[in-house]
Amino acid sequence: MGIEEQGGQKTAGTSTIAPATGKLGVMVVGLGAVATTFIAGVEAVRKGLAKPIGSLTQMGTIRLGKRTDNTSPLIKDFAPLADLNDIVFTGWDIFDDNVYEAAAHAEVLDKEMLAQLKPYLETIKPLPAVFDQYYVKRLNGTHIKKGKNKRDLANQLIADIQAFKKTVDRVVIIWCASTEIFIKPTAVHETIESFEKGMDNDDIAIAPSQLYAYAALSEGVPFANGAPNLTVDFPAMVELSKKNAAPICGKDFKTGQTMMKTVLAPAFKARMLGVSGWFSTNILGNRDGEVLDDPESFKTKEESKLGSLDYIFQPDLYPDLYKDLYHKIRINYYPPRGDKKEAWDNIDIFGWLGYPMQIKVNFLCRDSILAAPIALDLVLFMDLAKRTPSLRSIGIQEWLSFYLKSPQSAPGLYPEHDLFIQSMKLKNTLRHIMGQDLITHLGLEYYD
Ligand SMILES: NC(=O)c1ccc[n+]([C@@H]2O[C@H](COP(=O)([O-])OP(=O)(O)OC[C@H]3O[C@@H](n4cnc5c(N)ncnc54)[C@H](O)[C@@H]3O)[C@@H](O)[C@H]2O)c1
Repeated sequence: MGIEEQGGQKTAGTSTIAPATGKLGVMVVGLGAVATTFIAGVEAVRKGLAKPIGSLTQMGTIRLGKRTDNTSPLIKDFAPLADLNDIVFTGWDIFDDNVYEAAAHAEVLDKEMLAQLKPYLETIKPLPAVFDQYYVKRLNGTHIKKGKNKRDLANQLIADIQAFKKTVDRVVIIWCASTEIFIKPTAVHETIESFEKGMDNDDIAIAPSQLYAYAALSEGVPFANGAPNLTVDFPAMVELSKKNAAPICGKDFKTGQTMMKTVLAPAFKARMLGVSGWFSTNILGNRDGEVLDDPESFKTKEESKLGSLDYIFQPDLYPDLYKDLYHKIRINYYPPRGDKKEAWDNIDIFGWLGYPMQIKVNFLCRDSILAAPIALDLVLFMDLAKRTPSLRSIGIQEWLSFYLKSPQSAPGLYPEHDLFIQSMKLKNTLRHIMGQDLITHLGLEYYD
């Protein structure tokens, strides 16, 4: 065998990964548009009413060995992922609507589809949430827990998790709730001890999402964050994640505009085309759009959306091409569109001898339709990480950056935003944990 496309690294093999037997309990924080589209979608697929389009775990394949081997199993047949039939849902929300009512309110799925799923969706009723309007100005919750301080509220969430654990075999938690205001890490976020003291003292820098994350990680439960809040991306949570073998993985579902950005920007960079400006604007009319209409929540989203281009373009390495890039992002709340977001990008690029050109991208998308399969994949892969000895105690699952606008990486390591690098990293991680050769795309041996 030549060098081919094989990194050669073999690992322990499947026998060390605990099998996905029994029920996987999924606790969803926030039963709004994304969450209900995710839950209803899983049920629709289970009933054979629709296909899980957009889900890599359900529809994707993974090439093993040489290109000439013609071996490309489905990812779900290759890695021991939980079966959709074994997923059991529950969740928390600040309103007491059941999942059918919340899905009907979100108006993402059509009435005919929802009617077929109604008997099941009605059975999922939210637990009272931990909420404080200071952190999400545009919402006024009615179905919320009361406690003497933040530590007490976190303990109530821990009790919810413990009760649910008794009914299933494994648990994963995913945040699909509203975007909180922008918070910078402070001294309280440094260690588990300082964070616990902060909860006792009702520290203002501890938002509700952090209490859910603390509860999950304390219980050894993986926690994925679909929103851009400061939730698991600080030292205390990384420490807790490692200590209790509870995986974490970055934040903010990479769905529409940023997904396109992390596809186009690597192409420009690969061809050494310069970029002088990138203007991105959106109109969005769902509750998420309403929450993001508050400047403090928008700031959280803006920071998350801004990060990708700087990391991809590396202006320090390519000052002639990217050092003067002007990057602007706008989100406008526009109720008539509901969940059907429209995004426009104007990209000013320049080529040979500096001659300017323009590219326009107009993406008429459906926000929750794009986010639901990402939520599913994250839940299934986080459960896999928890069952995999070489992954469960490393804290951050950088291989899941593929799904997130703000990937998390080890301290001092810049995050990878390029969708294709992220995709290769994800698939090589699967090959690695399954004891298969990695694929490097070198391919010289075909020409021996
Ligand atoms: N759809 C996408 O493409 C996309 C992409 C990236 C990120 N997101 C993020 O995903 C999140 C969900 O989006 P959505 O469209 O479903 O919004 P949504 O407003 O429809 O749903 C959010 C739900 O969370 C609930 N909630 C708020 N605070 C809570 C708390 N502390 N505890 C429990 N429940 C709480 C709200 O009552 C609401 O039901 C948002 O933060 C959004 O920014 C969405």
